Amino acid sequence: MPKFIIQGGSRLTGEIAVKGAKNAALKIIPAALLSGQPLTIKNLPAIEDIDRALDIIKDLGGQVALHNDECQINCSTLNRHELTPALANKLRASIMFVGPLLARQGEVKFPHPGGCVIGAGTRPIDLFLEGFTALGARVSFKNGVYHLQAKKLKGGEYFFTTVSVTGTESLMMTAVLAEGRTILKNCALEPEIVALADYLNTQGARISGAGTPTIIIDGVKTIDAGTCKIIPDRIEAGTFAILAAATNSPITITNCQPAHLESLLAIFKKIGVKFSVGPDWLKIISADKLQAYSLKTHEYPGFPTDLQSPYVVLMTQAHGASLIHETIYDRRLLFTDMLTQMGANIIMCDPHRVVINGPTPLVGHKLTSPDLRAGISMVIAGLIAAGTTEIDNIYQIDRGYAAIDERLRQLGARLERYD
Ligand code: EPU
Repeated sequence: MPKFIIQGGSRLTGEIAVKGAKNAALKIIPAALLSGQPLTIKNLPAIEDIDRALDIIKDLGGQVALHNDECQINCSTLNRHELTPALANKLRASIMFVGPLLARQGEVKFPHPGGCVIGAGTRPIDLFLEGFTALGARVSFKNGVYHLQAKKLKGGEYFFTTVSVTGTESLMMTAVLAEGRTILKNCALEPEIVALADYLNTQGARISGAGTPTIIIDGVKTIDAGTCKIIPDRIEAGTFAILAAATNSPITITNCQPAHLESLLAIFKKIGVKFSVGPDWLKIISADKLQAYSLKTHEYPGFPTDLQSPYVVLMTQAHGASLIHETIYDRRLLFTDMLTQMGANIIMCDPHRVVINGPTPLVGHKLTSPDLRAGISMVIAGLIAAGTTEIDNIYQIDRGYAAIDERLRQLGARLERYD
């Protein structure tokens, strides 16, 4: 099994460019199903999750041509309405194919989606099913397979009792081809949702209110497809910023949108990270004497759950006690046990809350990456730690961070991949 071996303790320096956003691309790819015309996607990150999403398109009968960070998808040859379990099980975002497929084919069969094990049991899809029902679909479940049917979807109203990013995106996409008006309430506000709505609107959709809690979609008969450039990955940018702060390294992060990272930058000001920003870059200057600061993860524009794990590592290097409250997922703090093995002083109060007392020196250790964000946090911990850290199950890291070993080596990190 491939693994990373890291020699910690070096200060890093230089420039690192952010790739296209995984969680934006994973919605634009299924959006290709809405149209019979070819779609060109630019700035696509070269990561495992994107390869898996493109496999699903091919499996449904679509055509895919990938050249570096550009990809053409043609779904005029779509010939299936069933997601293959072996593919859907690898990716939580496989659920994003369901709505567009239903809208285009009138029927879809799919298993429960797979992906990171960060929520209770299998992550639920009840909001999706309720939303599809609100648009006129009939839902049944037999032998582990969901079956949705709707000759013609009809606009409807749906209130999200839990704010959901993919739930919002899925219903927004599905409603684009429904007859009449759909009103979605208590929607998530993430920039990736706005990017998806902007793309669909340039192709003939009529969506208003994306980025606010109420989104209104007036159905249209067809959607064109053209070119879409994926927005920069705010989580990757935030991860690099935390890495720079945790290792007290002067690093410039380019090709990013600091406007999407306001919650992190506001905290950087409080804890003593010195930085400067431009419209598409962020420079971490120094982080000499970090102060502890408690936080709760929150839906956008609050502090993202996807940056919680790197932030926990940062807090092991800060002076004082910080309480980290993970409000979105109930398994995302379990990785802190591995930081404790490296010398961190972390007390788990309950599955949602830990108290970190810092600063503590970390020492290299043998670790296993349980999920994507915990995995990259272990890389950051390994870069801080004295001695050697070995991380296996790095497939989890490759799912979301393209060629991370090569890119970090360019900053001076001593990190090698072994197969
Ligand atoms: N939820 C339900 N029922 C549903 C759907 C969600 O109860 O039908 C719950 C979840 O269990 C969770 C909460 O709602 O407790 C919020 O989850 P959400 O649906 O917003 O998460 P998601 O859409 O599945 C996306 C990202 C995640 C990111 C979250 C929160 C994608 C593909 N995934 O997930 O990204 O953590 O929003 O911002 O966009 C990652 O990139 O590492 C990652 C996990």
